[in-house]
Amino acid sequence: MSTYFTTPIYYVNGEAHIGHAYTTFIADTMARFSRLKGEDTFFLTGTDEHGQKIEESAKANGKSNQEFADQISGTFKNLWDDFDISYDKFIRTTDADHKVGVQKAFEKMFDKGDIYKGDYEGNYCVSCETFYPEVQLVDSECCPDCGKVTTIVKEESYFFRLSNYEDALIKLYEENEDFIVPRAKKNEIVNFVKGGLHDLSVTRTSFEWGVKLPTSMNDDKHVMYVWLDALLNYITALGYGSADESKMEEFWPASIHFVGKDILRFHSIFWPAFLMSLDLPLPKSIGAHGWWTRDGEKMSKSKGNVVNPKEVADAYGLENLRYFMLREVPFGQDGDFSQRALMDRINSDLGNDLGNLLNRIIGMSTKYSEGVIDSSNVLKYHQKEIDEAEAIVSTLQPYLDNLQLHRYLEELWKLFFIANKSIGDYEPWAKMKEGKTDEALALVALVANILARAVTLLHAVMPRTTSVVADALGFEINADSYTSLIINKELLKTFSVKKTDPLFPRIEEPLMQEAPEAMKEEKVESKKKTKEEKSTEGLITIDQFFETSLKVGTVIEAEEVPKSKKLLKLQVDVGEETPRQVVAGIKEFYSAESLLNTQVCVVANLKPAKLMGMMSEGMLLAARDEDGLCLVRPEKSKKVGTSIG
Ligand code: MSP
Repeated sequence: MSTYFTTPIYYVNGEAHIGHAYTTFIADTMARFSRLKGEDTFFLTGTDEHGQKIEESAKANGKSNQEFADQISGTFKNLWDDFDISYDKFIRTTDADHKVGVQKAFEKMFDKGDIYKGDYEGNYCVSCETFYPEVQLVDSECCPDCGKVTTIVKEESYFFRLSNYEDALIKLYEENEDFIVPRAKKNEIVNFVKGGLHDLSVTRTSFEWGVKLPTSMNDDKHVMYVWLDALLNYITALGYGSADESKMEEFWPASIHFVGKDILRFHSIFWPAFLMSLDLPLPKSIGAHGWWTRDGEKMSKSKGNVVNPKEVADAYGLENLRYFMLREVPFGQDGDFSQRALMDRINSDLGNDLGNLLNRIIGMSTKYSEGVIDSSNVLKYHQKEIDEAEAIVSTLQPYLDNLQLHRYLEELWKLFFIANKSIGDYEPWAKMKEGKTDEALALVALVANILARAVTLLHAVMPRTTSVVADALGFEINADSYTSLIINKELLKTFSVKKTDPLFPRIEEPLMQEAPEAMKEEKVESKKKTKEEKSTEGLITIDQFFETSLKVGTVIEAEEVPKSKKLLKLQVDVGEETPRQVVAGIKEFYSAESLLNTQVCVVANLKPAKLMGMMSEGMLLAARDEDGLCLVRPEKSKKVGTSIG
């Protein structure tokens, strides 16, 4: 099986920021997963170097267009190399073979009758390199996407018959539920297309920095519209239009084009229409992610609050940043970068759950067995825990398939919970004292095996860190070990642990300067928000609602928390292997006994938190007014674990 993942190609009018790093991390992660599973994988990234915007930036910097493009493209490439991004090709739209491919595609569309010559008059936004019909303008002159003032452009232009593709596009969206991910974005696109598509102006004469028309057209006034040029990179990178199209055969159509939500329209409307015109198969999926803000504020150069990914990676660790970005935000939703949130993920998920587990394994095995870990008694004593771990592993793949990387990681983390909990439950140090050495060593081997599975499954997200852990556990993560540990469920061969330096030293204080205060206070009032955005502001989509997992549970144990006026400690059965411990601030309104065997509604996917030193693994739904608090419960008894929604 072959797979093909792409990032957008980045404009070379400024250096990479955290938003660019985010798409690149996602695509890199998916490509790495795919390779680990032994799939033949191609991963493309690169830079988008033509157009009026770049021409203007080059001029402002006193450089020639090419010099300027070389310089900024180089900064992207260096950054991705520095970040270990495993791309197979870094394409530049100024590459000679790309330009040839674009001209071939233009010719083919023209020969097919999909391109014709006409006159264009319209409002053009240079920043977004897009024409907008008058009805879409904000305050009758501003760009609906970026808010900047548009200019009226009147010029001769070639047009692509986009209007001819309306029906085919609607059919595409309707017949392929997963063409647009998240699915919630599909309606937006369907409505846009149903609203009627205008033919698309695909050449410009008012500037020169672009791919020339094919010589056969005999019309050298025109250069290609930058989005036509740019979108075609996904096939020219595979050799489209060149003498060797073998990669096209091998990897096209793309598995997923990863894009930000702002460029979904170009990818889900223009791109499939161009491909239909070229008689080429369509990509399987366009995955549109949300936007990142900083401390709740939109990032912008003028405010000076743009997060520089290199600076964060240098301060906090590259892979910690990767983990944070992929874990923190559900794919498709907007996310907020703050140092506090990043520190929490590092200290808690990575330090407490993962790092400590490795330390405990190294510590125990060094003490009990001179560092040797032998799995031969694991199944004798711990079949149950191994089964629990396997059950979790078997649920993971669909999260990846649906791009729910945050859920993938959330579920994967349960492996660390099982491992850490088994150490607490079996107290190997006590077993050693009782002379039950076999049992103690079996426990250490059990947790080492769970950790080995977990880091193999985490490898694509944190390649370097997981390799260090694997090395400490005597194996290497690659397609073979993936097959043996994950597919064939084999246990580790006997090995000697290697000591490592602490992987996630605790971070007590922010390591970078905060964004300037003035910026944080200034709320950007968006001239640029479209009417639709304004009318739905503050509302969530059904998909966002379902991000919260609400479940019916039965309280099977309840006790007061000593020395606390407010807290009760409950064990709530929510249909999982073990009950959830929920520490709830309801003691003033409910006695522990009155809750026993009653049903409650539990928020089941909250990050566990400690209250008065006790772990709380969920929250009860309750309503509170001036008369006090009451729990929200199902009207009739329901099976434990029933989803609410
Ligand atoms: N050149 C076009 C893409 C052409 S693809 C055939 C382009 N380039 S861009 O450099 O402006 O943006 C590249 C990507 O960065 C887009 O997917 C965009 O959504 C993303 N981001 C820009 N700012 C962002 C955030 N603040 N947060 C997350 N992603 C953001 O568009």
